[in-house]
Amino acid sequence: MSSLLLKTVHISSATGSYILFFLRGIWSLNGSAIMSQRWIKIVPHVVDTLLIVSAITLAFSIRQYPFVNAWLTAKVIALLLYIGLGFVALRYGRSKTVRLSAWIMAQLVFTYIVLVAISHNPWPFGS
Ligand code: HEM
Repeated sequence: MSSLLLKTVHISSATGSYILFFLRGIWSLNGSAIMSQRWIKIVPHVVDTLLIVSAITLAFSIRQYPFVNAWLTAKVIALLLYIGLGFVALRYGRSKTVRLSAWIMAQLVFTYIVLVAISHNPWPFGS
């Protein structure tokens, strides 16, 4: 696969993951019936799997790796945090306040991942 195509798959699946997470947060907090539809249990998993597979393939293609290159270590740790916060926001949060807070924090973490991706720097906020 060409590196341009690979990067397009990675960025598209990252965008798709974000949009689906954003919408599921709203639907879940509103108690919408959409959350019990079949596709909502399948499509996000497919998109997130694509995101992770493209991330690993991209890392090999540019020969930079998590736990070797700091910016990729930061991305992996932040991705785990994003996933954990997603679980709290969409499933395990006990109150609406907890779920809403986790939903907002997950989006801040996502923004951090994008900034790290663009800057190749685990501290992308300037010196
Ligand atoms: C929510 C998770 C993620 C998001 C939103 C994300 C986002 C992005 C974006 C926007 C780019 C393009 C940057 C640019 O061209 O300027 C990128 C590139 C890349 N990402 Fe991710 N990424 C995520 C997860 C990961 C993970 C976990 C890894 C770890 C292996 C990873 C590895 C890479 C690599 C190797 C590149 C290519 C950088 C280059 O060619 O210069 N990504 N990512």
